[in-house]
Amino acid sequence: MTAVLRCDGVHKRFGATHAVRGVSLHVDRGEVVALLGENGAGKSTLVRCVAGEIVPDEGGVWVNGAHLEQATPARAAQLGVAVVHQELSYVGPTSVAENLLLARLPRRRGAPFLLDRRRLVEQAREALARIAPDIDVRARMADLRVGDRQLVEIARAVGSGAAVVLMDEPTAALTAAEVEKLFTAVASLREHGVGILYISHRLDEIQRIADRAVVLRDGAVVGTQRVGDVSRQELVAQIVGRQIDAFRREHHAEPEVGDGRRSLEVTGLSVPGRLRSLDLAIRPGEILGLYGLAGSGVELVAKALVGAVPSSGEVTVAGRRLSRRTPATCRKAGFAHVPSDRREEGIFPLLPVGTNVAIAALADRGAAAVVTRATDRAAGRRWTQELDIRPRDPDVPVAALSGGNQQKSIFARWLAIEPKVFVLDEPTKGVDVGAKSQMYELIARVAEQGAGVLVISSELPELMSLCSRIGVVTRGELVGTYPTATVDEQRIVDLAIGGHDR
Ligand SMILES: Nc1ncnc2c1ncn2[C@@H]1O[C@H](COP(=O)(O)OP(=O)(O)OP(=O)(O)O)[C@@H](O)[C@H]1O
Ligand SMILES: [Mg+2]
Repeated sequence: MTAVLRCDGVHKRFGATHAVRGVSLHVDRGEVVALLGENGAGKSTLVRCVAGEIVPDEGGVWVNGAHLEQATPARAAQLGVAVVHQELSYVGPTSVAENLLLARLPRRRGAPFLLDRRRLVEQAREALARIAPDIDVRARMADLRVGDRQLVEIARAVGSGAAVVLMDEPTAALTAAEVEKLFTAVASLREHGVGILYISHRLDEIQRIADRAVVLRDGAVVGTQRVGDVSRQELVAQIVGRQIDAFRREHHAEPEVGDGRRSLEVTGLSVPGRLRSLDLAIRPGEILGLYGLAGSGVELVAKALVGAVPSSGEVTVAGRRLSRRTPATCRKAGFAHVPSDRREEGIFPLLPVGTNVAIAALADRGAAAVVTRATDRAAGRRWTQELDIRPRDPDVPVAALSGGNQQKSIFARWLAIEPKVFVLDEPTKGVDVGAKSQMYELIARVAEQGAGVLVISSELPELMSLCSRIGVVTRGELVGTYPTATVDEQRIVDLAIGGHDR
């Protein structure tokens, strides 16, 4: 028997939600098994059962043949389980080095209760060397950007000598170059006989690194197959339980001279040292995309626009210049911003979905706003339905939603204020294939109703299918804007790389 992980008939309920229904699966030595399914299918819940964070109601988990009994995270770690959590995991006040070496902190010789700081730093640097040598091991975890935090978690799992590593959407916050480093780490783990349970909504990743795929729907296994034996379409159909067509927006020929109206006009937007004099204009009804590699400055555009980072330049919304830009004044002017990091700027985890959705609209009405459970509920009911947020219960706290459903509820909040300008930063991060198409349709609808939309995304296919033009940012500069009909993905990537020293 070579299984490093075996789940047998695992059930988990949260009140009325039967999140995991009798799941049995195994991961062999040196095998990468993909765990697939829609948002809310039960993937993270199963991972938490294996990690000892929650105890299954029925069924059991075996690691290297040993039964995980009286499950706690410490017990699971002892048996050889390491976890890289989905983005929303808790970040303590510790340093990168302490986080990396959590279970094996070096002590001073002769004084075992004292930390050997010098060795701590050295060992931590070693642990990070292959995956993310640029991260300062003395920095605090809380100060790192999400992608870097994720890389530290990955390095910790890789270095822990585990028999099985659980990766819950490890690449959702990573750039393309970071993804490559992760894949190298995965390959080396596999060579060392470690088993990996890998969760991702990005099927191209699954096809590259997974040996087998297990598909969950509504908490139960609906299929298991060798990845090489199935097509992408077959996987998608199994995940969502129906055929879905790839979303493609009709790109109307863009008139060179329109009536001159602009939803958004930006001139000379600059962030010292990071972004140089960016100009762009978006017409009502237009969806403009922005693409750039990590560090190109593209990741700052949205934050600079809404005044979340110090910047200079002029921003005009529907003909009115914003004299002072703060997130609040921007929102008042009809400017909605869906941030890329929902933990930082997005949600109120303990409040109900309804309140989370209604909150932006309420803030606009100022003193006149009447906060009632009834208005919240009505908003919650409408948007949980429109966006298929599950469970469809406006009273559930957002913290109890699955990752992708949390992302949808942030999106709903901004749709609810009917913005003039809609700035979306990585809008479909963590959102499943079926829900993505739904979100694309809603974004297109917002544009059709007259808003100007700016989509910043690292997923080029997303930009290609949504946008009529795509701007490329390289080394802090917008190097060009291209009608989507005239370029292909390769050309955009070449342009994005082109300005870098390589
Ligand atoms: N602590 C909790 N309390 C109540 N319900 C929960 C809790 N955690 C998860 N759930 C529910 O269990 C179901 C499965 O959630 P889970 O997080 O496992 O989904 P997932 O497959 O990881 O989805 P995603 O792709 O969006 O991350 C969902 O309906 C979710 O709302
Ligand atoms: Mg999840």
